[in-house]
Amino acid sequence: MLSETKIDKNLYAPQIGTLSRVCNLTEKEKLFEVKLNNGKELGHQPGQFVEVSVFGIGEAPISISSSPTKKGSFELGIRAVGNVTNAIHKLKEGDTVGIRGPFGNGFPVDELKGRDILFVAAGIGYFPLRSLMNYVLDKRDSFGEVTVFCGTKRACDRLMPDECNQLSCRSDVRFHETVDVGDDSWKGNVGLITTLFQKNIKFNPAKTTAIIVGPPVMYKFAIAAAQKVGIPDKEIILSLERKMKCGVAKCGHCQMNNIYVCKEGPVFRYNEIKNIREAL
Ligand SMILES: Cc1cc2nc3c(=O)[nH]c(=O)nc-3n(C[C@H](O)[C@H](O)[C@H](O)COP(=O)(O)OP(=O)(O)OC[C@H]3O[C@@H](n4cnc5c(N)ncnc54)[C@H](O)[C@@H]3O)c2cc1C
Ligand code: FES
Repeated sequence: MLSETKIDKNLYAPQIGTLSRVCNLTEKEKLFEVKLNNGKELGHQPGQFVEVSVFGIGEAPISISSSPTKKGSFELGIRAVGNVTNAIHKLKEGDTVGIRGPFGNGFPVDELKGRDILFVAAGIGYFPLRSLMNYVLDKRDSFGEVTVFCGTKRACDRLMPDECNQLSCRSDVRFHETVDVGDDSWKGNVGLITTLFQKNIKFNPAKTTAIIVGPPVMYKFAIAAAQKVGIPDKEIILSLERKMKCGVAKCGHCQMNNIYVCKEGPVFRYNEIKNIREAL
């Protein structure tokens, strides 16, 4: 006789959220503020993600971009690349979406307390890192030196220039930004994000954790640059993007060897994954 398989339906049933604010950031990216219709907090950790659904179209995993210290709503920064993300971009304030999660492990916030932190945010890697960055800034006294490296392809791709300008004015943050290719509108650094490591900024390797998020192609170079300033592999933290479907370690879409990235990740210390060929 077949035994009954029990499925936790709550894993697959989305909560309904309303878009309370939609901001155009660039040609391809928008920031969405979402309030859950049941009035509850999402209850996430920085670095976790949600599965966002547009009814009748489908679902996509999206990192939570706001800090859990922001109450009443949460934010998602989304690049329009395909079916679901283009459909989300067509939505307006007041429209509803489905939200499953928060899922994944998130950044090891407690282990970061007291440490110097180097954020390396490339392209839309800024969105997931922003959740932790804002958390750290809201609890600034709990952390050591904070350094932010931020990079985009062109000046017009800068996701949140006002926020970056504010960061650059803070005396308790060392903020450095670059664009790969300059133009007349851009007076700052030009070069890949890894060139910021050559700016003679002093790090205390024994106290520093580097948190790197960006497109897959950049990881190898950013990791090498962090290693070169003496940061050990265990203190290099990455968030991996994998094709995901269920988000809850059931379908196998995100699997890397015996690791379900959606559940045991997407955040990993480099020493945990450096010997897995398909990781980076
Ligand atoms: C944990 C996690 C967090 C993410 N956070 C964000 C975020 O904060 N903001 C954001 O804009 N995007 C994020 N993404 C990527 C986002 O999930 C994909 O862009 C989205 O699923 C594409 O769905 P679609 O239906 O719009 O595109 P599709 O029509 O499915 O595909 C369009 C193109 O995107 C590629 N693609 C599809 N799914 C993925 C995927 N999961 N990863 C990479 N490429 C994909 C396809 O190969 C195709 O080339 C995240 C992905 C993961 C796994
Ligand atoms: S996305 Fe289904 S197992 Fe990870």
